Amino acid sequence: MKKAIDLSQYGIVYIGYPIWHSKAPRIMYTFIESQEWGWTQIIPFCTSSETDIGDSAILLKNLGHGGEWKEGKRFAENATKSDVETWISSL
Ligand SMILES: Cc1cc2nc3c(=O)[nH]c(=O)nc-3n(C[C@H](O)[C@H](O)[C@H](O)COP(=O)(O)O)c2cc1C
Repeated sequence: MKKAIDLSQYGIVYIGYPIWHSKAPRIMYTFIESQEWGWTQIIPFCTSSETDIGDSAILLKNLGHGGEWKEGKRFAENATKSDVETWISSL
């Protein structure tokens, strides 16, 4: 089946999502599971009221086919694009 998104040309992919009930939304798990990640670096980040990224990122990683998962980051729910850009620049 042809994938809607071909990620094979990317070296690093940032996966951003809101926390719902302490996890990533189900569609994120479906997306992660649908790809062959190979050696792509995957850097997760989330927004939430208070829940840290921990469990959601571990569950995503466990479902993924390959990929080099890096430590992720949680942002407050009112985080701005600039907050995320500043973090990415610091990596
Ligand atoms: C259905 C639902 C469940 C949520 N569950 C949590 C949660 O378990 N922990 C938490 O800290 N925030 C929770 N939140 C708050 C969201 O993470 C927060 O509103 C979101 O990250 C903001 O991003 P958005 O503006 O893109 O929705 C929940 C929000 C919704 C709508």
